[in-house]
Amino acid sequence: MSAAARRNRADWEREAVAYERRHGTGLGRSGGMVWGLWHLPESRLGVLDEVRGKDVLELGCGAARWSVALAGRGARVTGLDVSPRRLAQARAVAERAHARVRFLEASAEAVPLPDESFDLIFCDWGAMTFCDPYRTVPEAARLLRPGGLFAFSNASPLRSICLDRRRDRIGRTIRYDYFGLHRIDYPEGVEFQLTYADWVRLFLASGLRLEGLLETRPPVGARSRYLRLRQDDWGRRFPLEVIWKLRKPAEPAARARPSKS
Ligand SMILES: C[S@@+](CC[C@H](N)C(=O)[O-])C[C@H]1O[C@@H](n2cnc3c(N)ncnc32)[C@H](O)[C@@H]1O
Repeated sequence: MSAAARRNRADWEREAVAYERRHGTGLGRSGGMVWGLWHLPESRLGVLDEVRGKDVLELGCGAARWSVALAGRGARVTGLDVSPRRLAQARAVAERAHARVRFLEASAEAVPLPDESFDLIFCDWGAMTFCDPYRTVPEAARLLRPGGLFAFSNASPLRSICLDRRRDRIGRTIRYDYFGLHRIDYPEGVEFQLTYADWVRLFLASGLRLEGLLETRPPVGARSRYLRLRQDDWGRRFPLEVIWKLRKPAEPAARARPSKS
């Protein structure tokens, strides 16, 4: 496991209980199928394919409300997380819902499962926020079956360059260089971000086709429990988060090697 993954695991082990207390109720809204900072319902955004009868992997499932919801819709779901405490919360949520979900403790950077195991791989501000995409994107491409969908939400690059990393506040100015975005160190843990061009280059080099990019915008007056007071307004002026949709072509395209520039 990478040093970044170990550091994030330690952070999530510390934060698991407080995070669940603060966000558990919101994450359970709309049957547990909500996206991002404002818990926008899947029924409105329409990110995922039909899941009935499909093999699904959630990368960084946390307390696994998404995994449980998709299992309830007839999918065979694997919830993967690096944190044993978060997986204990996930098992409790699944048990209460009488849902059958397979849980796996591992880092999304190296998933101990065979190639082409899944029809859908996704996460909502899950492991794709905390892992190096130069490891996770090729890994997701490996695990997907031809025709499969890879969808994930995370911070927008714009948010990453405007965020005061010490105080976790979005500022009024650009604080960090956009060019060269990659690893972002916080006092507690590590996140990763790329420029839009680097994301697209990496997807293509991993054999994935870009199917969509959603820039979420909260409804007027919506308040996120992830943001400090009044910072929601920034989310109506520019995207604080995005949802990427990638497709592994049914016919594999020629692959190039991922590179950073
Ligand atoms: C913000 S939570 C997202 C989970 C869920 N959507 C939620 O909101 O509760 C991030 C999750 O990613 C997990 N995570 C962090 N680094 C990871 C890694 N390297 N591999 C797998 N999971 C990881 C954390 O343990 C945590 O449960």
